[in-house]
Amino acid sequence: MGPIGIFDSGYGGLTVLKAIKQKLPEYNYIYLGDNARAPYGSRSYEVVLEYSLEAVKWFFKKGCPLVIFACNTASAKALRTIQQKHLPYLDHTRRVLGVIRPTVESIAQYTKTNKVGVLGTIGTVVSQSYPIEIAKLFPHIQTYQQACPMWVPIVEHDEINTPGAEFFIKRDLDLLLSQNAEIDTVILGCTHYPLLLNVIRKFVPVSVSVIAQDEIVANSLADYLQRHPEIEKRCIKEGDITFFTTDNAEFFNRRGLIFYGEEINSLKLSSL
Ligand code: DGL
Repeated sequence: MGPIGIFDSGYGGLTVLKAIKQKLPEYNYIYLGDNARAPYGSRSYEVVLEYSLEAVKWFFKKGCPLVIFACNTASAKALRTIQQKHLPYLDHTRRVLGVIRPTVESIAQYTKTNKVGVLGTIGTVVSQSYPIEIAKLFPHIQTYQQACPMWVPIVEHDEINTPGAEFFIKRDLDLLLSQNAEIDTVILGCTHYPLLLNVIRKFVPVSVSVIAQDEIVANSLADYLQRHPEIEKRCIKEGDITFFTTDNAEFFNRRGLIFYGEEINSLKLSSL
């Protein structure tokens, strides 16, 4: 028995944890933000895999039967390899899930034109994970992507409602939407982007659906636990959440508030 592990490169996964906690408050969770090594978005495949694998091993040591990669970059660059190559020898009875698959599963209910846009970090976009997953599940849907490297720093430096933020958000949305005038659905493929939703909405036609992942992932986890009683019965249900960061705890508590909306008391890990 153990808590459900929620992993992110830093703060962003707190948006996902918040939605999960609202949907499934009865479970215990441990959150790990690898802040000391964030951002992951601009790092190479090898490095994101190495860091994410270290995190999985740490969660397993903490007894987690299930780990969710709340981070799109880790889901895009490391998840498949960890599931296929590492889990069988680490512990084949435990599971590691990501955020890309559940997000992609939801898009068919939004798009009418079958033209979908994806916004993400450079790492997520270059990995082609969204187009590949979308093509697998919905071969008739065409995917267009745009990397938004400035959006994470905008959120992390609390510059959300500034003219500078509007400039970069409008620029990247224009670059995405100009790829095909029929794009009617835009996926926010990064943990930080839901916090920019109000600004994003200003620059996207009302006819375009903008999909944030937090609730989608929470609903998909609820569904997964129902379909997998062998994992569900190993998840402790005391409604407790513990936060860990690889960087300064006080800093995490303060910044984390922007993402989580509630007070956080995190613990600092000296190493993973
Ligand atoms: N959590 C990352 C993601 O969702 C964004 C932050 C980072 O680049 O580390 O892609």
